[in-house]
Amino acid sequence: MANHPLLHLENVTLASRFNPSLVSDVSFQVHAGESIGLIGESGSGKSLTLRSILGLLPSGIEQTDGRIQLNGRGAMIFQDPIRALDPLYPVVKQLAEVVHYRQQVSRKASHVIALELLELLGLPDSLRQKDRYPHQLSGGQCQRIVIALALACKPDVLLCDEPTTALDVTVQRQILELIVRLQKELGYAMVFVTHNLAVTSSLCSRLYVMKEGRLVEEGETLPLLQNPQHPYTRMLIDSVLPLPELSELSEPNELKRGADA
Ligand SMILES: Nc1ncnc2c1ncn2[C@@H]1O[C@H](COP(=O)(O)OP(=O)(O)OP(=O)(O)O)[C@@H](O)[C@H]1O
Ligand SMILES: [Mg+2]
Repeated sequence: MANHPLLHLENVTLASRFNPSLVSDVSFQVHAGESIGLIGESGSGKSLTLRSILGLLPSGIEQTDGRIQLNGRGAMIFQDPIRALDPLYPVVKQLAEVVHYRQQVSRKASHVIALELLELLGLPDSLRQKDRYPHQLSGGQCQRIVIALALACKPDVLLCDEPTTALDVTVQRQILELIVRLQKELGYAMVFVTHNLAVTSSLCSRLYVMKEGRLVEEGETLPLLQNPQHPYTRMLIDSVLPLPELSELSEPNELKRGADA
């Protein structure tokens, strides 16, 4: 049981009509409570890989090879919080709607659960009392709502697609801390996609490096960062990870198997 992965991608290939290898031969496993990072430059296939896991590939793109096994529930946090929300619908109602459909509970019960999620995510009371629309919230509050929407699905695996890039640095940090704290409480596993190596390195026990749709390197976080084998990984580290950040890395192993600890 302990060795049985929650999520297993084997040689996954994604293609469009014009490009038969947008993503090629990608394989990785995620175990319960574990966090892995998927890093690589823009266009390397990170988002398509995440979307393929939940069957959310854009039209015109399909999986042409390989196998994806998700042994549990998956949910995704999208990069742009405002665009992930319906602008014409109060946020609490959007949340209650997701709870209603995903947890199969009555409308009344889903409203109560939605309010509990607001509290869990540290959202202000004003949201409970009045209908608030996405444009009336700050970027950080919107992203908390988007995280609540994902958590409303009670995921075993949370797929995070650059969940903080749209936010300013202080809010980024708060949101990351929240995701990690909730992981300890709720025990979900994570696949964390980002350009930001400093972020993944503090969150994830293993890193997978993608270039032009392929995995070029993978390994335990610290050894990989300290001794990258592929020139592309070296280039990513040189270009995005300021040296002082390396010494600030928290213990990734602490986060590795939150559920088993
Ligand atoms: N809807 C689409 N139709 C056709 N090609 C697409 C579509 N979405 C993505 N692609 C192509 O697939 C490749 C991988 O895209 P993907 O969005 O997965 O990259 P990414 O690594 O997430 O990049 P970023 O860091 O900028 O988000 C890119 O070449 C992109 O142009
Ligand atoms: Mg992307």
